Amino acid sequence: MQPILGIESSCDETAAAVLDGAGTILAEAVLSQEREHAPYGGVVPEIAARAHLAHLPALVREVLTRAGLGFDGLGGVAATGGPGLIGGLIVGSLVGKGIALARGLPYVAVNHLEAHALTARLPGLVQGGAPFPYLLLLLSGGHCQCVEVAGVGAYTRLGSTLDDAVGEAFDKVGKLLGLGWPGGPALERLAARGDPARFAFPRPMLGRPGCDFSFSGLKTAVAQEVARHGSRPLPAPLAADLAAGFQRAVVEVLADRAAHAMAMVPEAKLLVVAGGAAANGAIRAALAEATAARGVHLVAPPARLCTDNAVMVAWAGIERLRLGFSDTLDFAPRPRWPLGELVALPADGQPPLLASCEH
Ligand code: KG4
Ligand code: ZN
Repeated sequence: MQPILGIESSCDETAAAVLDGAGTILAEAVLSQEREHAPYGGVVPEIAARAHLAHLPALVREVLTRAGLGFDGLGGVAATGGPGLIGGLIVGSLVGKGIALARGLPYVAVNHLEAHALTARLPGLVQGGAPFPYLLLLLSGGHCQCVEVAGVGAYTRLGSTLDDAVGEAFDKVGKLLGLGWPGGPALERLAARGDPARFAFPRPMLGRPGCDFSFSGLKTAVAQEVARHGSRPLPAPLAADLAAGFQRAVVEVLADRAAHAMAMVPEAKLLVVAGGAAANGAIRAALAEATAARGVHLVAPPARLCTDNAVMVAWAGIERLRLGFSDTLDFAPRPRWPLGELVALPADGQPPLLASCEH
């Protein structure tokens, strides 16, 4: 297979990458819009869409140049088709479709969650490859779910958040503690200096059957402590103890939920963690312990492949193209696109009974 161009624009990262047909990364680039959104304390959809439009064409040219290719050297284009913010999805999908149409290339509308799910299968990440089935714990700013990955297109959601995503909870608590946006990395640094035992915060869903998550009660408990204190800014030692207590509660809940997921799918020998919050050292350490206790191998891709990127989009495109599938150019981007709505692609290349894609 000729090299594949991947495009990601579903949230606030503009990204492009070129992978060869075997999945080796030839070039990758990510432009974070963090600075554009930071003054508003969160992602502003209209600003995101305009920034994608302003930066994506140059980014595509840049990765092609770095890969030493022109459009003629490509074998296909994969662009995130959803879920995500509709403006950005339209920009990325149209850029991808335009290139595919102009060059007569196959186009794949990639489900962003599938791209996170299949990242573990990128050559070189897991020795000998990541065999199906495995578990995915997706911990990002917008998504928080645990998924059984049984094949390309074959996903069973074991649990998801009932309210906030875990990264969102870090961001909201970060705001309460007077940290900038996004709050996750700063909160982790602050927590390292605090006493996690000072506040007895709730552990929502801990010990409950299944694998659902909930973080809003925990966030409220932190908010109540902050309110109790009154004066602002919070004294640094208090803020550090609150951060440490919050993070400890999240970590314990995640380890418990992961243990439940492993019990639900005992055949899975791998647990893959992805999403921005997977960069958190305390979360990684707790998951490493929980998986080791059950003889399961924890796969934590490097941070740049855990957060939103186009390498994962190109790779998901390669996985689909290899099985003989691509999408038609009338694909309409989908702001909402649950993994469960995808159709399992047969490994033998035979068309599935129900498919939203051409082959
Ligand atoms: O996957 P991601 O880059 O994209 C979106 O979901 O948009 O995740 C970003 C999220 C943010 O909520 C951020 O606060 C969180 O991941 N995050 C962290 C850490 N680094 C990023 N949360 C906890 N600890 C971290 N070290
Ligand atoms: Zn993502």
